[in-house]
Amino acid sequence: MLADADLDRLRDRLEAADYTLDPVLARLGESGRAGLGRNSTMPARDALGDPFDPGDDAQGTLIRLWVLQDAVPADRVAHALGGDLVRALGAAGLLESDAAGAVRAVAPLRPYGAEAGPHSAAVAGWICHDRLPNLDGQSGRVRADHVLGGSPASTTLAQLTIRRPVGAALDLGTGCGVQSLHLAGHAGRVVATDLNPRALALARVSLRLSGVDADLRLGSLYEPVAGERFDLIVSNPPYVMAPPAPAGERLTYREGSLPGDDLVRRVVVDGARHLAADGTLQVLCNWAVTSGEPWADRLAGWLRPTGCDALVIERERLDPYEYVEMWLADAGLDRAPDHAQRYRHWLDYLAGLGVVGVGLGWISLRNAGRAHPDLRLERWPFDVHQPIGEAFAAQHRAVDLAERADAALLAARWRVHPGVVQETLGRPGAADPEHLVLRQSFGLARAVEADTGLAALVGACDGDLTASEIIGAIAVLLEVDADALTAELTPRLRLLVADGYLTD
Ligand SMILES: C[S@@+](CC[C@H](N)C(=O)[O-])C[C@H]1O[C@@H](n2cnc3c(N)ncnc32)[C@H](O)[C@@H]1O
Repeated sequence: MLADADLDRLRDRLEAADYTLDPVLARLGESGRAGLGRNSTMPARDALGDPFDPGDDAQGTLIRLWVLQDAVPADRVAHALGGDLVRALGAAGLLESDAAGAVRAVAPLRPYGAEAGPHSAAVAGWICHDRLPNLDGQSGRVRADHVLGGSPASTTLAQLTIRRPVGAALDLGTGCGVQSLHLAGHAGRVVATDLNPRALALARVSLRLSGVDADLRLGSLYEPVAGERFDLIVSNPPYVMAPPAPAGERLTYREGSLPGDDLVRRVVVDGARHLAADGTLQVLCNWAVTSGEPWADRLAGWLRPTGCDALVIERERLDPYEYVEMWLADAGLDRAPDHAQRYRHWLDYLAGLGVVGVGLGWISLRNAGRAHPDLRLERWPFDVHQPIGEAFAAQHRAVDLAERADAALLAARWRVHPGVVQETLGRPGAADPEHLVLRQSFGLARAVEADTGLAALVGACDGDLTASEIIGAIAVLLEVDADALTAELTPRLRLLVADGYLTD
């Protein structure tokens, strides 16, 4: 294990070598970065100069060692980091030497960062994780306790997390510690847990190097935080529904030990008991779509007993074939000799659970303490405006506003959100449009079809007049009965408030 003092000295060396996010991204260039996104190192090699002559180029040496995952001459690595740190990294199992005297990363260290948000500090540091298994067409086979680096799923969870100042935050299943790096930017205290001791060891490296003081705890689900409550819980749990594997073969980073989506259910349902008043739990996950029960009813069955408000967004739906093919390929088994048997076995497993599809999406729970919690479950496969976290915060808050009695709703002076635009569609020269749509250019990018009365109401909501006064004026203009128009528009006004088109 690396001593804290070693990690602090390592940080100094990384900074001195300009092995930090912006300089490294600049060195790789646009093509180099895009290539790495496709798991191809060729464009990055060209950016470094191929063949690469390390000379005194410490930054280039570290990019070769940790980003391209090459074997690099030991003397060049010692030049970049210092011989004693190379030895310490070797003793900690993060580097290994080969017979030819070259050094290779067992667990690479890559610069990581994110911009500051309106309510959160910038993230700047490094993540330490196992080697990326798919670079340059490699097999993708990994050890059972493999620790994932930042993945597209981690980025999505980071984007959907509500970034508001909170007291205590929990990162459940921290892996390399990536979510904790983000949480530290707006939480007073961060607890990070994992079932995998290797994950905690690498997360400790990531967090100490990045100057983040998180409380790391080993254990399954909520065992390490028994009796504790948090203002924010985030998790990207091992949600892949795979057939049970023999001990030591289950890929801990992606597969739970419970059947089907039971581990996801536990993360969500048990998580609700660990939320402080007004606390939020945000999870990126998969869930089973079973025969004979609408997916939303099944998930509502999990959520209703928690007593929390819930917003569930299904982003994608896969059939069992697509699902199994995707995850066999992820494990590097798509060209394995026993691929067909594994494929059939997995399909049979899902069929045995009654799984006819898999939903991929986001679950956000808020402990609002409401007598009648608001449950909203919807399929929304359309483009959204990332980061979406603010939209979750607004949506949870909009429930409070929309809950008002009709009289209070009508007495409020609403403002149309500045990101709402009106689109009209019709034949050229026609007096009236055939379709009138109010569209959000923010968050979930929702859209609603409006008629003249509703569009006029929204258009006049600038915080000056009450909704009731505006509807009265519209009734005069349209020469209709004001009470009838009020009765027609009030439920639609409530929906517009709940969806964040109008705010107070
Ligand atoms: C998909 S990875 C997510 C890692 C990281 N949080 C991210 O966002 O990239 C899931 C993590 O959950 C951990 N894990 C697996 N089973 C767990 C359990 N029962 N309790 C807690 N963590 C678990 C795995 O070891 C792994 O680090």
